[in-house]
Amino acid sequence: MSKKIIIFDTTLRDGEQSPGCSMNLKEKLEMAKQLERLRVNIIEAGFPAASPGDFASVQEIAKTIKECSVAGLARALKSDIDQAWEAVKYSQAPRIHTFLATSDIHMQYKLKMEPQQVKETAVEMVAYAKKYCSDIEFSAEDATRSDPYFLAEIFEEVIRAGATTINIPDTVGYTTPDEFYELIMTIRKNTPSIDKVNISVHCHNDLGLAVANTLAAGKAGAVQFECTVNGIGERAGNAALEELVMILDTRKDIYNFTTDIKTNEIMRSSSLLTRITGVKVQPNKAIVGANAFAHESGIHQHGVLSNKKTYEIMTFESIGLTKNTMVLGKHSGRHAFEEKVKQLGYTLPKDELDKAFARFKNIADKKKEVYDRDIEAIISKESVQVPKTYTLKRFVINSGNTITSTALVMMKRDDREIEEVAVGDGPVDAAFKAIEKIVTQKLKLEDYQIQSVTEGEDALGDALVKISNEAGRVYVGRGLSTDVIEASIHAFINAVNKMIYEESM
Ligand code: KIV
Ligand code: ZN
Repeated sequence: MSKKIIIFDTTLRDGEQSPGCSMNLKEKLEMAKQLERLRVNIIEAGFPAASPGDFASVQEIAKTIKECSVAGLARALKSDIDQAWEAVKYSQAPRIHTFLATSDIHMQYKLKMEPQQVKETAVEMVAYAKKYCSDIEFSAEDATRSDPYFLAEIFEEVIRAGATTINIPDTVGYTTPDEFYELIMTIRKNTPSIDKVNISVHCHNDLGLAVANTLAAGKAGAVQFECTVNGIGERAGNAALEELVMILDTRKDIYNFTTDIKTNEIMRSSSLLTRITGVKVQPNKAIVGANAFAHESGIHQHGVLSNKKTYEIMTFESIGLTKNTMVLGKHSGRHAFEEKVKQLGYTLPKDELDKAFARFKNIADKKKEVYDRDIEAIISKESVQVPKTYTLKRFVINSGNTITSTALVMMKRDDREIEEVAVGDGPVDAAFKAIEKIVTQKLKLEDYQIQSVTEGEDALGDALVKISNEAGRVYVGRGLSTDVIEASIHAFINAVNKMIYEESM
């Protein structure tokens, strides 16, 4: 009989707290809905006590998501636990996840607590959380550098206090598969009540072993794997969800574990996260990298043409990749567009579909052939939108290699049209400076990327702009157009609108 693995996704908590990966409420909600379609079992939606924004997002996710349990993280503090409960209580299956460090180095230097005090606090806080919620996870932070017998003592007592899952994190990504296997076996042997609860693991990737360590823990009896889409997370990240799931799927013969994950939603989850955060995955990243299914060498291509299995251990369809087929053009109507959207696996509410169709028509006017990837780019642009405080009315650029670039940009805010002119180091820089003048704020350009969505001369340009305000908060904007300067301007305005939206919350 195969064993079911519970997939605990922490993209919106551990992932979101890593550099460059912060998301606003709408983006987190959109990502949570995609995680629900992916069928993760538990979404760790955030750390409610960390900020009012985090609290609001966890609460909104708890109210919206129906098919997954929603967890909120809390330090072992009454005030954190109160807030975590206030945020997750709307979920159909709420979970409070509380944690306390157990390694000597953390207890001595970070917590400044004696081991006995740590044990008592853990027990007291689990019991406190249990008054609110039946589903309680307790994590022993830095478990892999903790004394295994001390861990077993704490786990035994927190189980008696009401914990239903005990999590063994490799917080600093220090352990190795064999060592982690032994640690879990030792904990199991020395914790009499261990069989009453689920054992969970949460591995960081500092030595590149997060996935391998998680799998070793599975062999030692862990039934919950904590992971993130694209492996995002603190420092080198967390175990990558897509890798764990596809290993279990591809190597059933070794692991004999199953998950509820709909593997054909993997690619969409990965792409959505990339679009929201602007953090790309490396091309050779396992499963979701751009080259993961590409065969460059002639020998490989020949083999694959004769029989795919010569060089392919998984099919690209299994992760939801579609061939980049040419589909629509400027004569395609609404019905064909809707059919295509459905075929690509998206269900959009009517207002989003209307906007996406309008954009499609606009693009199809300028671009002869509209490919699946173009349509996906259009849809993902429409799906995570904030109120459009500023919109672009028009722009004029004067640029060349013998003159200083000048940009005139006119934007609309409410009923006002505002126009500014600026010079810059190239047309894009000039346009960005003109926008900055219009919004009358000092903004720093943190990152700017432009890439084509598909090949060809009339390919859509997909621009990404990351700006930060004076408080250092970073906002990511996206823009799409067949004209790269227009795409860049749209991306900058999108980032500004996100900033205004967040500041208004
Ligand atoms: O890495 C870690 O230890 C954590 C805990 C809060 C589970 O993220
Ligand atoms: Zn972590």
